[in-house]
Amino acid sequence: MRDHTPHNNPQTDFNEEDSNTSANPRFEQVLDTRLSRRSLFKGAGMAGAALGVTAVTGCATTGASATSVDRLGFKPVAKSLADAVIVPEGYTAQVVYALGDPLTASTPAFKNDGTDADFEHRAGDHHDGMEWFGLDASGKPSNSFNSRGLLAMNHEATTDEQLSSFFIHANGGTATLPRPAAEVDKELAIHGLSFVEVHSDGKRWAYQPGSAFNRRVTTMTPGAIHGPARGSEHLVTKFSPDATQCRGTLNNCGTGKTPWGTFVSGEENWYGYFFRDAKDDDARKKDKHVQALKRYGRKAGAASRHGWESAGPQDQYVRWNNGALAASAKADYRNEMNTFGYVVEMDAYDTQAPMRKRTGLGRFAHESVAFAKPVAGQPIVAYMGDDARGEYIYKFVSDAKWDPKDASPANRLAAGDKYLDKGTLFAARFKGDGSGEWLELSMNNPVIAGSSYFEFKSNADVAIFTRLAADAVGATKMDRPEWNGVHPRTGEVYFTLTNNSNRAPESTNAVNPRSYKDMKGSKEQKGNVHGHIVRLADASSAAAAFKWDIYVFGAEADADKSSVNLSSLTDENDMSAPDGLVFSPATGICWIQTDDGAYTDKTNCMMLAAIPGKVGDGGARTVKHGDREVTTYVGKTPTPTTLARFLVGPKGCEITGWCETPDGRAVFVNIQHPGESTKMADVNDPAKYQSQWPANAGYGAGKRPRSATIAITKNDGGLIGS
Ligand code: FEO
Ligand code: CA
Ligand code: CA
Ligand code: CA
Repeated sequence: MRDHTPHNNPQTDFNEEDSNTSANPRFEQVLDTRLSRRSLFKGAGMAGAALGVTAVTGCATTGASATSVDRLGFKPVAKSLADAVIVPEGYTAQVVYALGDPLTASTPAFKNDGTDADFEHRAGDHHDGMEWFGLDASGKPSNSFNSRGLLAMNHEATTDEQLSSFFIHANGGTATLPRPAAEVDKELAIHGLSFVEVHSDGKRWAYQPGSAFNRRVTTMTPGAIHGPARGSEHLVTKFSPDATQCRGTLNNCGTGKTPWGTFVSGEENWYGYFFRDAKDDDARKKDKHVQALKRYGRKAGAASRHGWESAGPQDQYVRWNNGALAASAKADYRNEMNTFGYVVEMDAYDTQAPMRKRTGLGRFAHESVAFAKPVAGQPIVAYMGDDARGEYIYKFVSDAKWDPKDASPANRLAAGDKYLDKGTLFAARFKGDGSGEWLELSMNNPVIAGSSYFEFKSNADVAIFTRLAADAVGATKMDRPEWNGVHPRTGEVYFTLTNNSNRAPESTNAVNPRSYKDMKGSKEQKGNVHGHIVRLADASSAAAAFKWDIYVFGAEADADKSSVNLSSLTDENDMSAPDGLVFSPATGICWIQTDDGAYTDKTNCMMLAAIPGKVGDGGARTVKHGDREVTTYVGKTPTPTTLARFLVGPKGCEITGWCETPDGRAVFVNIQHPGESTKMADVNDPAKYQSQWPANAGYGAGKRPRSATIAITKNDGGLIGS
């Protein structure tokens, strides 16, 4: 999802959602033991020791063992404004799977002129997070076969102006209400997930249009509610009066792969798709739902992103109106929005099994889910972020203890039931001394059970109204937590904090220490303009303490090194708005992807390769804001052999989603929303498109830009990035 509102669309910038008005204690008030960094680390051979913290080691992936690369081996790619995918010398990038590509043998080829239909059987739009599920030559699941597999991916959103997804409609579609049903039907189908078979003949990667494994999940696909919220009164809808079923997944952003071999996907900016009229607060008699709806960004009377609720009286349209319209929740969709905002689990190999919404992992603007390496007899631990300004970092700890036999279970979703339906959620509080604590979000915590801030009656309420629970316990408001990943060697977890235009000098703190001004041409940008990446050395799974530092600060290379470019980035590795972050199971390289609107006067979005150290390998730095000083902890300064730009994308795109073959010799990456600043009025004038990718790379019909998956290989067949 784009970060910055394009010029043509003043209405929607859903990542900029800004509803955390909770009066959480500012972090500098809740600390402060005033431990110096020196005393914290004194005598500690490893960063965690001073707090009794032992890092959880290993990565979550099944299959390939890490062949650690300790030095990047490619020549860094220069910043670029070209309408092309640029990779290092000696590498090749090919387009594999783009918006509209047919997934069945009988679906017509994609014309890419806005007349195509049947998107239930085509690739969706805005390819995002992505995971690899290997197949062997006979089509059986494999963690070692390298030339055949399934890509499981998110189709987060669509390129829109005002209300219309204009590139999929012949003349750009209808940007006023009511929306025509035929247009809405297409838009309902381009969101969701796809599972697509890909294979290599040794020279080229291609997708398999007629594969029996290909599958789409859309905003209309039925699913099951699992975990503590199953059966809750707050999930009762006309579709599922017993609150056990739901329809669709929406705005899926980051992904993950469980230790038992399933696909998980985070629902991010779902709230923008709903509408309730201006009188709805009164209709609900101002009950606790009104507080929750506001906290989740749905004010009464605010327009929905696409106006789907306006397309007719049929159920598939009416469900997007989440007002209290009928006599009871069983007769309307007042609770429909409460059925979104979860981590969705699916078995990539089973085309029949319905998705399961894992409510135990909380309801917020989910990005990726990173699992700590499972340890026999210990709980499963999953880390997650909530991407909006001032939102929180979370972890989930399962009740069930890991049984190594579950690494290849007979029934993968039953293993998901075992590990994800019962457990405890925590939110992170960061302290100024470089430590932190996990705050329990459950009825066992008297702060939740006795809260006067919001009425929690059960753990179902905590699962559904998670943001309010994290508010109540005083979690730390972060600069938009995006993806996260667990370092395969150290077990430390890295979170991108993409940017925060709301971060003011007076609200800076040790873990969100920057607020500054930056020029983009003649436009002044402010706050934490370029984002940063925080890392946590967590305790053994159930422990409540962690240590942290800032692995790297995004910045423009020529920015002031005392206040902005704190990691001394250079032309080889300067970046803005880190978003995607995945550690390679094969090489240990950390891949960092950007979704930027701040540095795009100088470069399109990019992907960098990194070989990070560990928490505490740098030192304390003081950032001045007038007469206010904030002390933070910055990781060791990267060099071009430990952090380097590997790829730059075409115009108007973000780079997102990453997976690889088990041998680490083919990497798949998504190019999302190339050409997103194209004006709807120019939809039939290719000369005015911001981008013509991937048509200009020789892929497919028409010139309308398309989100797409690329495969990257090294010409000598080597490990990617080595
Ligand atoms: Fe879909 Fe937070 O990016
Ligand atoms: Ca600038
Ligand atoms: Ca993202
Ligand atoms: Ca983003």
